[in-house]
Amino acid sequence: MGSQKISLKVNGVDHEVVVEPRLLLVHCLREVLRLTGTHIGCETSHCGACTVHLDGKAIKSCSLFAIQADGREITTVEGLEQDGTLHPIQEGFWQEHGLQCGFCTPGMMMTATAFLKDRPQPTEDEIRVAISGNLCRCTGYMNIVKSIQYAAAKLRQGE
Ligand code: FES
Ligand code: FES
Repeated sequence: MGSQKISLKVNGVDHEVVVEPRLLLVHCLREVLRLTGTHIGCETSHCGACTVHLDGKAIKSCSLFAIQADGREITTVEGLEQDGTLHPIQEGFWQEHGLQCGFCTPGMMMTATAFLKDRPQPTEDEIRVAISGNLCRCTGYMNIVKSIQYAAAKLRQGE
């Protein structure tokens, strides 16, 4: 099958791109649209480094083809900050030292922001379950949980 033209709205911007049917969404984001904040860890849907939002839901962008996202809306980590103001989850990771090498961080933040929309006042256990599909090899998770708790509190203040 030859290349296909698809439309994607990414971080509020419309794009038309021509892709091979076998191109994974994560490669389309990084290599075609040059949004390299979305990381690639395993490419087998285990690590969560590639997590983005597809129509508001957190998904692992190595687990679908770009053509499967045709006509849909995507948010990547680059879309969290608004007009120079960090998103509360970004502020949380900064304030609570939620990262060391930072490789897992974009995926963690995208999973957390989707989760907090559904669960604005989560328990620690619920946070740990929510991020169980995102692997971090550095932090031991404690400060990641604190970062998400920080964001939850800040988002509730803004309601
Ligand atoms: S790169 Fe997608 S889950 Fe690891
Ligand atoms: S901070 Fe290094 S993998 Fe999570």
